[in-house]
Amino acid sequence: MKNYAIALIPGDGIGRDVTEAAWAVLEAAARHSGITLNGARFPWSCAFYKDTGMMMPSDGIKTLQTFDAILLGAVGWPTEVPDAVSLHGLLLPIRKEFTQYANIRPHRLLPGVNGPLKATGFDILCIRENTEGEYSGAGGRVHQGTSGEVAVETSVFTRAGVERILRFGFDQARRRRRKLASVTKSNAQKYSMVFWDEITRRVAADYPDVDATSYHVDALAARMVLAPESLDVVVASNLLGDILTDLGAAIQGGLGFAASANVNPDRSAPSMFEPVHGSAPDIADLGIANPIAAIWSGAMMLDHLGEADAAARVMAALEQTTSRGIGTVQGKERTEAITAAVLSSLS
Ligand code: NAD
Ligand code: IPM
Ligand code: MN
Repeated sequence: MKNYAIALIPGDGIGRDVTEAAWAVLEAAARHSGITLNGARFPWSCAFYKDTGMMMPSDGIKTLQTFDAILLGAVGWPTEVPDAVSLHGLLLPIRKEFTQYANIRPHRLLPGVNGPLKATGFDILCIRENTEGEYSGAGGRVHQGTSGEVAVETSVFTRAGVERILRFGFDQARRRRRKLASVTKSNAQKYSMVFWDEITRRVAADYPDVDATSYHVDALAARMVLAPESLDVVVASNLLGDILTDLGAAIQGGLGFAASANVNPDRSAPSMFEPVHGSAPDIADLGIANPIAAIWSGAMMLDHLGEADAAARVMAALEQTTSRGIGTVQGKERTEAITAAVLSSLS
């Protein structure tokens, strides 16, 4: 019987609720498919920081390295720990240290979910660069607190980094409708984004069967609302992809429906699966977080592990649940009730 070691990092706020919900569904799906998931829970979070002064222990990355995959809830509790401290202490180092350079975020409506664009219909796969670009962390502040203060934060785009994420996107497009939108702001950012556009053209030449178009991010944002059905795979830099995928979440019914996978395609380190949403302090402890995004992310984890059968069971259960009108409007139903409905739909 196949056995997988999964590191669970529930994190903060609703991250805890949705991780437990996803874990219950994943364990049940694994049983149906004849595999075993062994979960180890790590309490790394803002509460952990308050106790220890660190978001994770100094050997945290080394500990995670031994797992087959990581399932994460959400990180951040800004009233207690500044976001720039908590995210740079846990989520972002995992993405970078494990070279999880492809952040895959699917945007489509589950049956029964009434997004604002339901009449249109769409199926977008956003591929977000996940280890460099605007999130490089290169920069600094000088003359702090004076009127001459300066803050600089440099985006870092490398040929290797841009080329690999584009190739990843083109490979995904080949498995889908063979259309790719490459997103930049090269009319304003004349070095890094012109560089990205050039690499798009070069890589596109290796994929003559894929219809590739470069868009400026402002126009692409409008297109996602006005003509989302015209998009298939969307490839974007770290920050542009971050923003576009909250928009993607909005058109698919809300953040409670948006799943994501932080993938190391070379499999030299574990990949990490987490919903797009954060810790939602405004609804934390109310028991009304929608667990669908986290459960869907768990299905992406099973798929990545090569367990297509178990992944398909989870997606079928989610779709059956929403087609029965359960969990389709976020913030209205109890997390536990939605999870129970998904569990009872598993077969
Ligand atoms: P958020 O995604 O936590 O919440 C935005 C809005 O969406 C809120 O109104 C929230 O109630 C709602 N929402 C989100 N997920 C939901 C769900 N599953 N069900 C129902 N409603 C849901 O974004 P924010 O408020 O900007 O961030 C809160 C904290 O989370 C911050 O510390 C932020 O830095 C962090 N954050 C972490 C991650 C992550 O760990 N991947 C992602 C985004 C934000
Ligand atoms: C996301 C989040 C993170 C990001 C934050 C919390 C650093 O918004 O995963 O979309 O910007 O990558
Ligand atoms: Mn985001």
